[in-house]
Amino acid sequence: MLTDRYGRTISYMRISVTDRCNLRCRYCMPDGIERIPMSDLLSYEEIAFVCRQAADLGIGSFRITGGEPLVRKGCVRLVSMLKETPGVRRVTMTTNGVLLGEHLNGLLDAGLDAVNISLDTLDRGQYKAITGMDELDRVLASIRRAAGKLPVRINCVICREINDDAPGKLATLARDLPVDVRFIELMPIGAAKGLETVPNASVLARIEEQYGKTTESPGGDGDGPAVYRRADGFTGRIGFISAMHGKFCAACNRLRLTSVGELKPCLCYADTVPLREILRDGAADKEERIREKIREAVRLKPQAHCFERRENVTEEKEMVRIGG
Ligand code: GTP
Ligand code: 5AD
Ligand code: SF4
Repeated sequence: MLTDRYGRTISYMRISVTDRCNLRCRYCMPDGIERIPMSDLLSYEEIAFVCRQAADLGIGSFRITGGEPLVRKGCVRLVSMLKETPGVRRVTMTTNGVLLGEHLNGLLDAGLDAVNISLDTLDRGQYKAITGMDELDRVLASIRRAAGKLPVRINCVICREINDDAPGKLATLARDLPVDVRFIELMPIGAAKGLETVPNASVLARIEEQYGKTTESPGGDGDGPAVYRRADGFTGRIGFISAMHGKFCAACNRLRLTSVGELKPCLCYADTVPLREILRDGAADKEERIREKIREAVRLKPQAHCFERRENVTEEKEMVRIGG
């Protein structure tokens, strides 16, 4: 078992497989990003090697993220590789949903345990304004195809300037389909720095005005910091990830692996522990050296983020390079 300096058990790793994305979300990378050469990215074999060492140390749950993970060729194969790794209990994915429909059967066959789909509005014009693309219909089709076949959560980031009016409509997905709809407070990273977070308390108040009182639904079945509520007559739940107004760092359980092979102890800070050279240097004892780096990243985990004091946030990268 991996335990950090603050007594937290680290049991979950987010793996970013690419920094590329087929959308251009305003709060994430409105103008695109400079491309990283493919040779700088970890291969699936290298990623699986790191996961094998992490699983040996007690990390049992892995989430594949991007950029958009499904734009990297063969991503479904990575799911199979991880699912076959001893000690791996759970493999999930966070995607924008555009390509999910066409890969769904492959992902189900590979054994994907759950999928989180990012969608910030149900209005076609607003979707275009947020993402720069006209893909709302494809994303909705993906959601309908996936719902009921595996656990589905919809991630909705609400910004004052962009989609403050979206929560009421988005909630209808949880009313009508077996999916959870989760509202995420925008964190000031990259392009989101100049945008205003909408507190989840106000999102909940508006949802209750529209759909009636909700009740707590303890024990989310995910690995993350979401808390859930139930509304009368809804099929799925409404969840809240209150990154800004409900700091959840005391229960943090995670490390991140970036697409270029750095372990990242916390979302908020630039510090990383590089693995790529070790993976590629051909020296003996690679297993133990990678395991030592994983322990080092756990030791480096800070107590909490400092998003409320923007001047102390050292992470300069866009969210698309981190994977959320
Ligand atoms: P499950 O609860 O297991 O479904 O997953 P998750 O919430 O860990 O993953 P997901 O990729 O769906 O992330 C949802 C939101 O939580 C995103 O906006 C992430 O940026 C945010 N998030 C994920 N991990 C962290 C974290 O360690 N710290 C903070 N502050 N936010 C996080
Ligand atoms: N703050 C909060 N969530 C964000 N995401 C992307 N950028 C931010 C931000 N600045 C979300 C995406 C996706 C998840 C991985 O992270 O919408 O659902
Ligand atoms: Fe963990 Fe950092 Fe996220 Fe807080 S912000 S939950 S410490 S990774």
